[in-house]
Amino acid sequence: MKVSVIGCGYLGAVHAASMAELGHQVVGVEIDEERVRLLSSGKAPFYEPGFDELLAASLASGRLSFTSDVGEAAGARVHFLCVGTPQKRDEYGADLRHVDAAVGALVDVLEPGELVAGKSTVPVGTAARLAETVGETGAMLAWNPEFLREGFAVQDTLHPDRLVYGVPDGADGQRARDLLDEVYATIVAAGTPQVVTDHATAEMVKTAANSFLATKISFINAMAELCEATGADVKQLADAIGYDERIGRKFLNAGLGFGGGCLPKDIRAFMARAGELGADQALTFLREVDNINMRRRIRMVELARAVCDGSLLGKRVAVLGAAFKPDSDDIRDSPALNVAAQLQLQGATVRVTDPAAVENARRQWPQLDYAVTAHEAAERADLVLLLTEWREYRQLDPAAFGAVVARRSVLDGRNALDREAWEAAGWSYRALGRRST
Ligand code: UDX
Repeated sequence: MKVSVIGCGYLGAVHAASMAELGHQVVGVEIDEERVRLLSSGKAPFYEPGFDELLAASLASGRLSFTSDVGEAAGARVHFLCVGTPQKRDEYGADLRHVDAAVGALVDVLEPGELVAGKSTVPVGTAARLAETVGETGAMLAWNPEFLREGFAVQDTLHPDRLVYGVPDGADGQRARDLLDEVYATIVAAGTPQVVTDHATAEMVKTAANSFLATKISFINAMAELCEATGADVKQLADAIGYDERIGRKFLNAGLGFGGGCLPKDIRAFMARAGELGADQALTFLREVDNINMRRRIRMVELARAVCDGSLLGKRVAVLGAAFKPDSDDIRDSPALNVAAQLQLQGATVRVTDPAAVENARRQWPQLDYAVTAHEAAERADLVLLLTEWREYRQLDPAAFGAVVARRSVLDGRNALDREAWEAAGWSYRALGRRST
């Protein structure tokens, strides 16, 4: 089937290559010419494990191409909308400018019977509004949210947990469903659970899922605050409550909290939308989820100051990690960089390192100092902070690493290091939500 993917940022580029992998003829439409050039030459504009190989294979198959001309989307039976919905400047709501522009451009190429399938995360009610515009051409609109995680984007796209289709009522709904089933035939055949529903429910599934995940993280971080006040251990607490299958251990890793391009903006946009709908009380708890999350960053800086005898002035601090999470070069709302900048503001000399995100970090935070390796960052450091739990940092040999620092003092902002091994190598180890020994 010929399909188009409108918007080839992170979500769209992965989706386009994945659809080609499923055997479809895919045209990726992207207004950024430089991005079109990079993708067309097989270069990923971001770091994502497995994506380079998928892109190369899809381009080589002849089933994938990229263009800045939306006219080339003509004739596709399904048009996936994958443009970004960032947070508005100085406001909580989502900025729908790109979605509206994409649909506005698409209407000129749409033919009756074609399907526009929205994948972007949008405020509930957006699909109903767009369906009217799309409907004027005789085409249909479905909402088909995407749940991919950075670092697992290819796997999540080709082997999703579930398929959610928000379709119109009546015969159009059945036609939309059939088209999506045809696009995802191999995923459907694998027995992937499907939820076929209306537009509003499909839009809300995405924001509800992200709100739940954010709440789970902030819940355990709230417990970490209490553990700090009482001397209890949040890691053991998480293990113990996580054995209850109703709770589950996943997403109960206490630490610096969540960042990235999705969870923070999505919970804020959800609150803003609830306010517009007169249902803001239903989501006031999300404000607390956000507050707990932001407090972890402040607490991390306080802890750093405390272990430096009350002042960071003139202290050399090594920061391991700049990306908002491992296996990603994404620094949007990165807790690690936020903490690094605060440490510097308090007078510390901060050197940041990251296996993938240094270039992005340098562009956005040029005032910070960067190093290529963990050892280089930690040279003569008074304090080491682990802020993004990349595997190579978790696997550092604490004895060898200890040889380069001035003082063997480590703060584990992600509860990810083997505390016993670090202490055995002579390190003073502190972590959020865990007492010092
Ligand atoms: C998230 C959702 O998981 C995904 O389904 C959605 O499509 C987009 O948003 P992503 O932002 O890639 O994906 O990252 P995720 O793995 O969910 O982690 C989000 C943040 O939470 C990271 O900053 C991570 O470090 C933090 N986190 C995660 C914790 O602090 N503790 C945990 O236990 C889990």
